[in-house]
Amino acid sequence: MTKHATAIARKGPSTPMLDVYASGVLAGPVLDFGCGVGADVAWLREEGIKAEGYDPNTTEFKKFPRRKFKTVLCTYVLNVVQAPKEVLVAAWERVAVGGCLFVTCRSDTDVNYAARKGGWLAIGKGWVNSRGSYQKGYTEKELVKLCTALPSHSLAVYATKVHGNPMVVVRKVRL
Ligand SMILES: C[S@@+](CC[C@H](N)C(=O)[O-])C[C@H]1O[C@@H](n2cnc3c(N)ncnc32)[C@H](O)[C@@H]1O
Repeated sequence: MTKHATAIARKGPSTPMLDVYASGVLAGPVLDFGCGVGADVAWLREEGIKAEGYDPNTTEFKKFPRRKFKTVLCTYVLNVVQAPKEVLVAAWERVAVGGCLFVTCRSDTDVNYAARKGGWLAIGKGWVNSRGSYQKGYTEKELVKLCTALPSHSLAVYATKVHGNPMVVVRKVRL
């Protein structure tokens, strides 16, 4: 088994979240799904936006939220899990009708470069790095495909890139 489950200690807010915020489309309440130590949650709260975090590998954000959110962020989470569909569906279920899910992953170029340079071990569709953590990079096409398969609602998928990393925005609409 790989240790893909470790929460990371980000010092400041993430670029994907800042980009979404700067574009003016980030509506609260916000759920940061796979929030790590909660740097984005803290930043959003300081901006006066209602924000909660969920991360099963932390003490502070362990509690799974039951309510729905206008915005759900899922930043650099799918690239560390070996069952991305399950995690994506769990995040999608927390999106309120009319709300959006923003999914950002490390790009395949970035991860494959790091893997070759670091001599990572190939496992399934991804790699295990020197710390024993799983990593799998995504192309924009792969991420769009994963999001397009989300159940229950029709989707509008907009793909964009944050520093070469694909971000897909999925809106939940009533059928
Ligand atoms: C690379 S970190 C990104 C953390 C944060 N989103 C950020 O950008 O700083 C990946 C995070 O995914 C979390 N994670 C792993 N499995 C998860 C799951 N099944 N559901 C939600 N989060 C998960 C890990 O605990 C870790 O904190």
